[in-house]
Amino acid sequence: MTEAAQLIDALNTTFGRHKGCRASHAKGFAVAGRFLPAPAEPAANIPLLHAEQPVVARFSIGGGKPGISDKSPTVRGIGLTIGSGPDLWTLALISAPVFFASSAQQFVDFLAARVPDPKTGAPNPEKVKAFNIANPNTLPHQEYLKSTSPCRCYSTERFHSAHAYRFSVADDPVAARVLLEPAAGRVGLTENEMAELPDDFLGHALQTTLEARPASWTLKLVIANVADELSDPTAPWTGENQEISLGTIRIDKLDKSEDSLSRVFDPAHLPQMVGAPDDLVFPLRSNAYAVSKARRSG
Ligand code: HEM
Repeated sequence: MTEAAQLIDALNTTFGRHKGCRASHAKGFAVAGRFLPAPAEPAANIPLLHAEQPVVARFSIGGGKPGISDKSPTVRGIGLTIGSGPDLWTLALISAPVFFASSAQQFVDFLAARVPDPKTGAPNPEKVKAFNIANPNTLPHQEYLKSTSPCRCYSTERFHSAHAYRFSVADDPVAARVLLEPAAGRVGLTENEMAELPDDFLGHALQTTLEARPASWTLKLVIANVADELSDPTAPWTGENQEISLGTIRIDKLDKSEDSLSRVFDPAHLPQMVGAPDDLVFPLRSNAYAVSKARRSG
């Protein structure tokens, strides 16, 4: 069996296999908008982003359960494709600043520790505890989710790449993580909202927002400091990092087209002048997403 199939098996074993759905980030919906370049002379040399571009995106909740509550304490995601020609950029970002695994084995072990116990229908806390003790690098992701209230609307969520990509800034090579910073600021649910909102509110919340105005994020590069870990997407960057704005992602409307709903947001699609992250997780993603796509039909 290929490594990609093993990764998807791990997701399917923990979350079940659901016809028509992605093995991970199963619950979500698509939207459309534009990329608008920053008005100042671009600091980073990414030719694709020197002009306005169409954007297709999909908001989602992490995990492979299509019926998961919008209040659940897991990551929110955005998959987005910037551009429509041969030079385009596909990103799939999450609401936590770091990922939950730094290798294929750790991804599989993380999920294996969370296979629901048939007696309780929930993960066995002893198995989760043993995984955490053996894999302390995965704790920052889990701690972020425990300490952060789920977002009130996708338009008030921050999204991170966790991977460090390679860029050219003022002709110098730099490593940077990608950040989508919401113009409206990050807003989490209050305790009352947690208690009172239904399990499905995020679609309606975004639709209501878009009826009033587009939802916008600044697309930023968060430049690595010398001490920052570049090859481990589970490692937080804890200092002050310089940030460069590349422009604005503006989402205008929900998009119910089949092409957008079924799209694979394969992060291997990089534009000219953006180099692939140098970690063990990034090269796993393209094949894993293809296996998930192939299994969606049955
Ligand atoms: C071992 C590494 C990873 C594996 C095996 C994996 C697996 C998957 C799979 C199977 C899907 C569904 C693909 C599809 O059917 O189109 C998916 C979607 C997604 N993943 Fe990952 N993933 C990994 C790493 C990451 C990382 C590092 C991030 C971000 C930091 C991320 C963010 C997302 C997002 C946002 C989506 C939803 C995209 C959409 O809406 O279609 N994943 N992942």
